[in-house]
Amino acid sequence: MGAGGVTVAMEHGVALAPLLPDLARLRVSVFRAWPYLYDGSEAYEAQYLRTYVKAPGAGVAVARDGGAAIGASTCLPMPEASEAVRAPFLAAGLDPADFFYFGESVLLDLYRGRGIGVRFFQLREARANALGRARFATFCAVERPENHPLRPPGATGLDAFWTHRGYRKRPDLVCRMSWKDLGETEETEKPLVFWMKSLRGDPLP
Ligand SMILES: CC(C)(COP(=O)(O)OP(=O)(O)OC[C@H]1O[C@@H](n2cnc3c(N)ncnc32)[C@H](O)[C@@H]1OP(=O)(O)O)[C@@H](O)C(=O)NCCC(=O)NCCS
Repeated sequence: MGAGGVTVAMEHGVALAPLLPDLARLRVSVFRAWPYLYDGSEAYEAQYLRTYVKAPGAGVAVARDGGAAIGASTCLPMPEASEAVRAPFLAAGLDPADFFYFGESVLLDLYRGRGIGVRFFQLREARANALGRARFATFCAVERPENHPLRPPGATGLDAFWTHRGYRKRPDLVCRMSWKDLGETEETEKPLVFWMKSLRGDPLP
């Protein structure tokens, strides 16, 4: 895809290894913003991102402007995802093998609103379909309390963007992840609510 010199391509396996420092930097800088408020370290991130190099079904859609990575979006078959991600599905009697899990999308501010986020969804769904096993795509998003002191006035979030991509919110499926918020000294646990979409027309479970 070309959008003003920007290319977006799905990469996987060892091809990702040299990109990890760039991807770590992107995650740390983009997730500092609401609603993630993530006080991350690039060292931890580089380690975390190795999952995507090692997991056989994983892929990362990488957006580049010239040589530089300016955005990225991750995915992997749910059986290869962390226990925290799989837990609510197992508890609900759902088979993780039926699901393809989308990790995160991060894109520098300057590049938003040009269709790159849409492309991230297309490429990740294409990877799920190419691997052939999963019937549904799913991802989760953090829920912050309405009265959170750092909620920006009028913050709308991405619910409409995700709904337009065909995803439906599933408040019955919630996982918990911990990270240190900006301004806090300790990690705290946050609820993340899942969204899902059928990849081949099967009714949602
Ligand atoms: C999520 C994120 C990657 C979305 O990126 P984006 O590139 O701005 O999104 P897009 O430009 O593809 O889509 C935004 C809107 O612009 C439209 N759009 C604008 N130009 C477009 C084009 N050339 N082609 C297709 N769609 C276009 C899209 O259709 C969409 O509108 P719609 O939902 O009404 O259909 C970006 O907002 C981000 O990095 N946010 C911070 C991190 C985050 O919250 N990540 C998600 C959770 S992990």
